[in-house]
Amino acid sequence: MATKGTILVTGGTGYIGSHTTVELIQAGYKVVSLDNLSNSSINVLEGIEAITGIRPTFYEVDCNDEQAIEAVFAKHPDIQGVIHFAASKAVGESVQKPLLYYRNNLLSLIVLLEAMQRHGTKGIVFSSSCTVYGQPEILPVTEDAPIQVALSPYGNTKQINEEILRDAVYAGASYKVIRLRYFNPIGAHPSALIGELPLGAPQNLIPYLTQTAAGIRQELSVFGDDYNTPDGSCIRDYISVVDLAKAHVLAVERILDEAKGSEALETFNIGTGRGVSVLELIRTFEAATGVKVPYKIVGRREGDIVQVWANPERANKVLGWQAQESLADTLRSAWAWQVRLGEREK
Ligand code: WQD
Repeated sequence: MATKGTILVTGGTGYIGSHTTVELIQAGYKVVSLDNLSNSSINVLEGIEAITGIRPTFYEVDCNDEQAIEAVFAKHPDIQGVIHFAASKAVGESVQKPLLYYRNNLLSLIVLLEAMQRHGTKGIVFSSSCTVYGQPEILPVTEDAPIQVALSPYGNTKQINEEILRDAVYAGASYKVIRLRYFNPIGAHPSALIGELPLGAPQNLIPYLTQTAAGIRQELSVFGDDYNTPDGSCIRDYISVVDLAKAHVLAVERILDEAKGSEALETFNIGTGRGVSVLELIRTFEAATGVKVPYKIVGRREGDIVQVWANPERANKVLGWQAQESLADTLRSAWAWQVRLGEREK
């Protein structure tokens, strides 16, 4: 079957990487998937194949390994674009192990960009984060908002990565760059065949919430209800991982299709444009699934910002992307995935 081209996806067995691989395949692309499996399972490939009927070409590779990366590009000269997800991403861990985060997250990008330059790859879509904004002064936040001093080494690696990409383009790199700043990705594929697989106790809200709803965790701790928000709990822009994956397909198409006239360096907020508080999210989950979530209010978590949500107008207009799924449907998909995980463990 003729394909639209070949895309290299790093971190391809991860949460967002796996969902993006599904959307790329279903949009007609061939996918070469890399992952070092440090924070994901190779079994994810079964889920991707079950959904799409196609098992992507996969290599267990660490993106810091220059020889291995060169070998992949040499073996697949048809790679036209790269989507770079592979990175260490635990905010708390990054405070404990900053050098591991700087080495892994910065070196892997540099190794990739140098390989792309050698092989004439058309462009890269980079997985960035709204964390670069810190606590914005003005909400909803636009791409032109000031970048604030990072609150963690993880957040700082995202900022430095963005600067590396910017400086490479300004120095005349042969490839184009699109930086996608995600807000809070949640949920799972509607098939419940792939989803978020946190190793150990989840740091993020939704996996902890669904594990509590499933009785795996005793109760959810809500980190503070004394913030300056309507109900006192923090506000975030929760976006369906499937909607987020679709944004990557549009970004790849924007790079590969000259007629779209993309700039050498573009940046987009990928969010719903709607802020939801932790307490509102719990209530929405319970209403959507009929499942109670026992929770208690505890102290604030170090480093949390109070509220952030996107102004996604540039992505809507320029990328032609819009979040589609309702929060209730996204939370139902997260629950269906949690139930499936429970069944798999039996
Ligand atoms: C969301 C809200 C918590 C857990 C981080 C990274 C971001 C991205 C997504 C990687 C906050 C509250 C959480 C819990 C809670 N990561 N919470 N109880 O911190 O907004 O973003 O993860 O790309 O870059 O910064 O996400 O899910 O941890 O927290 O009350 O058990 O839920 O205080 O208000 P966050 P989160």
